[in-house]
Amino acid sequence: LSSEAALVDGLIEAIPDFPQKGVTFRDLTPVFADGAALKALATALTRPFEGHFDSIGGLEARGFLIAGAASVVSGAGVLSVRKAGKLPRAVLSQEYALEYGTAAFEVHVGQLPAGSRVLIIDDVLATGGTALAAVNLIERAGWHVAGFAVALELDGLGGRSKLEERGVETFSLLQY
Ligand code: PRP
Ligand code: HPA
Repeated sequence: LSSEAALVDGLIEAIPDFPQKGVTFRDLTPVFADGAALKALATALTRPFEGHFDSIGGLEARGFLIAGAASVVSGAGVLSVRKAGKLPRAVLSQEYALEYGTAAFEVHVGQLPAGSRVLIIDDVLATGGTALAAVNLIERAGWHVAGFAVALELDGLGGRSKLEERGVETFSLLQY
């Protein structure tokens, strides 16, 4: 592991039986609560894409925490990719499937110049449904997806292959 990965890895807690029996939940809140670890995470996620993005697509809610830090370390602003019904101006929406039911992401139409290169950032990649919805939304809005960067990739749930099939370069700091 790189020193950044080791620092982040050492703070992630495995919580048994959350949110339901049999599931081991990887809790990143200790990483967000540690300034040095959050900075190391933001640096590690933006470095592979340096020079290739104009904006950071932050995914509500947990992705926002990393995206804000990534903005400060890289100098790029944050595109707010919000859950449905939160943005006040004209929006584009993209539905996606959750374990139970559906959700939708929205962005403000015209928030970035046409053709802007957006690096999408989130905390966890599991099935990839959330990430793929963000990719589709950003492309429909007239922007280009520079890549997808995530703190933690959960292996065996198909997230990476969904993104690769879609041609999205994917970087994860840690894989469990
Ligand atoms: C979690 C996590 C990722 C997503 C990963 O978000 O923050 O965004 O699930 O799962 P997937 O790869 O199977 O789509 P959640 O929907 O719980 O929302 P939150 O960030 O608002 O807590
Ligand atoms: N941790 C955090 N978020 C998640 C997880 C997890 O283990 N699985 C799906 N979303």
